[in-house]
Amino acid sequence: MVTSTGAKRARGGAAQMRATSHTTRRAARRPGLGLAAGGPRRVVVRRAAPPLENDQEVARQIPKSIHDIDNGKILGFDANLSEDHPGFHDEDYKQRRSWIASLARDIVPGDPIPRLEYRPEEQETWAKALGELEKLFPTHACKEFLDAVDRLDFRPDVVPQLQDVHEVLQETSGFAIRPVAGLLHPRDFLNGLAFKTFHSTQYMRHFSQPMYTPEPDLIHEIIGHIPMLTNKYYADMVQQIGLASLYATDKEIWHLTKVYWYTVEFGVVMEEEEVKAFGAGILSSYGELDHMKTGDRELAPLDPWAKQPKMSYKDGFQKKYFVLSSFEEGSELLRRYSKQYIDREHQG
Ligand SMILES: [Fe+2]
Repeated sequence: MVTSTGAKRARGGAAQMRATSHTTRRAARRPGLGLAAGGPRRVVVRRAAPPLENDQEVARQIPKSIHDIDNGKILGFDANLSEDHPGFHDEDYKQRRSWIASLARDIVPGDPIPRLEYRPEEQETWAKALGELEKLFPTHACKEFLDAVDRLDFRPDVVPQLQDVHEVLQETSGFAIRPVAGLLHPRDFLNGLAFKTFHSTQYMRHFSQPMYTPEPDLIHEIIGHIPMLTNKYYADMVQQIGLASLYATDKEIWHLTKVYWYTVEFGVVMEEEEVKAFGAGILSSYGELDHMKTGDRELAPLDPWAKQPKMSYKDGFQKKYFVLSSFEEGSELLRRYSKQYIDREHQG
């Protein structure tokens, strides 16, 4: 997911984490910054993990199941839109979002996700965004994503239902989808991943800007997140971030939020000496896809132990992408990383 205004930015580091769809902009093409150049081939796997940073620990209940995670504690992105939101002056749009959000609050994990009848303008928005993004997928997206998109069989004339993609995830990686009304607190959102649950919005971006949304919306979730979550190694990697979050201090939650940001939202992977996108914030944004491939950006191996750069939101594309050599190796790396948190909890 992605934040928008300064106020929201301050709130957030923001997990549910964001769909950066700066999609209408196209980064300037810069010859000589091709993918093979400078792309690391292998992830860093440390032999000895440094001690975790210990900040002030606050007594709290560690969730034992997804039922212990409240999906109603929304920090932002509900129907109270900011003035610069494309739907700010559209009362009908805001009412529609409010209604969809109310459905999310009433759902108990395990219950079927309500099927929405999408309106013609929502249908057109989906078709337009899918049509544009599909132009770049063959050259910009990783093969695991392309395989999953084939399986999911997205069609321009049908907006996918969360319940249907939830069932595909259950059959593939075992992940579940749980609707959410807006932006969860990062701890709650990351904790959900520990139980292989992805909190997803169900509302559509405003029809006036089909290639842009300042916040996560259905297009970001369905196109950006769902396909990769069918891959078992990727899904394991994501779950490891969630497992670490169960035992993380508040300060560590912010570090994990950044680890999530630079993998699940903006991660890239090397594929035969080419860098390809797997992060949802890239895959759901035409502009970010183009920038990732040809823009002025750095590539570096992913190191979850290292201090992570500040997350950037809507004010431009990512300056730096972190690279995996494969999802098998990413899963192994994040397992080593989350083990520190788990061991500390059990030893402490
Ligand atoms: Fe996201």
